[in-house]
Amino acid sequence: MTVNVEIDGEIAIVTIENPPVNALSGAVRERLLTLVELLDGDANIRAVVLTGAGRLFVAGADIVEFDRPPEPPFLPEVIARIEAAAKPWIAAIRGAALGGGLELALGCRFRVATANARFALPEINLGIIPGAGGTQRLPRVVGVAEAARIVAENYTPVGAEALRLGLVDTLMEEPLVPGAVSFARAALGRALPPRSLNRGVSAPASDVWAEAEGRVVADAKGATAPLQALQALRHGIDYGAEAGLALERKTFLALRSTEEAAALRHLFFAERAALRPADMRLQSPRSVETVGVVGGGTMGSGIAAALLNGGLSVVLIEQDEEGVFRARSTLAKLFESSRRRGLFGAGGDASGWMDRLETTIGYGTVERCELVIEAVFEDLAVKRAVFAELGRVCRPGTVLATNTSYIDPRLIAEGLLGPERFLGLHFFSPAHVMKLLEIIPTPQTAPDVLATGYDLARRLGKVPVRSGICDGFIGNRILRRYRTEAEVLVRAGVGIAAVDAAMRAFGFAMGPFEMQDMAGLDIAFLYREAARSRGEPVPDMPGDLLVRVGRKGQKSGGGWYDYIDGNRRPIRSPEAERIIAPLVGAKKEMAGEEIVARLMTAMADEGRTILDEGIVASAADIDLVEVHGYGFPRRRGGPMFQASRQDMTITRTL
Ligand code: COA
Repeated sequence: MTVNVEIDGEIAIVTIENPPVNALSGAVRERLLTLVELLDGDANIRAVVLTGAGRLFVAGADIVEFDRPPEPPFLPEVIARIEAAAKPWIAAIRGAALGGGLELALGCRFRVATANARFALPEINLGIIPGAGGTQRLPRVVGVAEAARIVAENYTPVGAEALRLGLVDTLMEEPLVPGAVSFARAALGRALPPRSLNRGVSAPASDVWAEAEGRVVADAKGATAPLQALQALRHGIDYGAEAGLALERKTFLALRSTEEAAALRHLFFAERAALRPADMRLQSPRSVETVGVVGGGTMGSGIAAALLNGGLSVVLIEQDEEGVFRARSTLAKLFESSRRRGLFGAGGDASGWMDRLETTIGYGTVERCELVIEAVFEDLAVKRAVFAELGRVCRPGTVLATNTSYIDPRLIAEGLLGPERFLGLHFFSPAHVMKLLEIIPTPQTAPDVLATGYDLARRLGKVPVRSGICDGFIGNRILRRYRTEAEVLVRAGVGIAAVDAAMRAFGFAMGPFEMQDMAGLDIAFLYREAARSRGEPVPDMPGDLLVRVGRKGQKSGGGWYDYIDGNRRPIRSPEAERIIAPLVGAKKEMAGEEIVARLMTAMADEGRTILDEGIVASAADIDLVEVHGYGFPRRRGGPMFQASRQDMTITRTL
């Protein structure tokens, strides 16, 4: 870490150089504090340009430090000192000013920026609120309504938008620093604007607060930080900046040490590590621009949409006219869904979307693809036939992938020409939305083919997790265990609705039985039947009884619950209860926390087995699978995170 100072006449240029993202670590804060004193005392200096080395200004506090008690000097103190400096400080912002970086910039008298510079307070994503004046200075610079969106709703103005808001004083081209120095010289000839915290701010009408609170609570999915960020902002408007700063800091410190914040930090680092596993860092991927997708059903079309959103070109292969027609109409809907959700990534703009899509019958044009993903019916013979054909028509360097969720990829690849170019790429439905991508190499997969899987994940904005080969890979294997344990509870007399309600209260959008009704009970049933036919001692489960009488879930009009007239709202089913009664013990009340603990223990237990078997590289990877593929509530960090915290509690009490 360094914070450099250069002198250009009467202007000092202070550059924070703390790679990779110029986080405001303790040493940076200390040096900044020293420098303000020093420069204030230097009669030759009249203004200070503050900038960051590299591609961005400052990405915020050093998140690594949040696992330890706060260490002085604290950021609010540093920013207050810069704001109070005798000489004006001018923040010169390239790329991004995030979190504490934006707060630091707000402590400066002026802000100049490149046109691509992003401004955000992403603290709420880490379960905390800005802790260094962001909730107080921002409304005094851009107004309450816009500040509320930035503080509590992840609104991220960029360049011209930030200029319009008054967040930056001017936009500049590179080279930024000489431009900022000229700006500083010109500014010295004029009266200085008031310091951010001293600026007047008008309180908004009360319905502005009510509307903002409504939106924030609706989007928060049970997270507490967004509303608290808004409350800190409001406190400073209602009672003045000093009171606002005090509440902001108190809230920040309290949230910093919550389980929720620890869970979100855990995922922050896990997500970044997932994209760059150690053995892939030096491995170049194969170049991919056009991807073939075999099969235009729900999964194939979803994969095609994900690829188009990521800016790639797609050749979607179907068997006949009818299949092409169906796929095109599914894709038109997915295009709309992507637009609504804002899923068009870099290069994946709406206008080029349909132009980059070719739908075709048969393999005639697949030769131009550098990667082909098979997404046909989950049947070994069908899949093998596809790969036999692909092996014949594709160029030798083309990467071939299967989207199987259960079948051993080694069996699918048997007899394939060039097995080193084959791997599993397991997407999750809806594939244009769900972020998980399980990457499943076979023992023969070449390293650059594996790297191509990771590169694809990065380009599609997915979270890649490598899985070894086992039945159901990582996610479906844990799901099976989770569902089985839920049924074990029902057998023990716990109510179906009680289990679902407990898991919803924990943060899942649906409980295990509601989810199974949606997905269909028959998959688990067939799996158990197959095991029974192999002679394995699999006991009858309540779900088996339901499937045997045709209750397969919503698609058959009922499963664990009843459904009326196509409505997806589950209704308690006396019939289902009667059918499963022979396997169910006397009614048993169980507290929600105990239900959650039972299901968490089962998931983590399966996770540990998967780790021991070497199927997955780390516990954090398992958490990523659950959070990004199976609706595990993000603020809970994942089953392995939950288990590790449980272990810590046990260790602490021993
Ligand atoms: N503190 C500590 N480390 C940080 C960090 C922070 N605020 N922000 C990023 N990093 C680390 C990442 O963990 C990663 O480390 P690694 O190389 O060891 O995996 C590295 O910096 C690069 O980050 P990455 O996200 O992989 O790069 P990117 O170019 O895709 O994105 C950012 C850069 C800054 C946009 C992104 O990292 C980000 O959003 N950071 C968090 C910003 C934030 O929440 N600030 C408020 C903190 S309270």
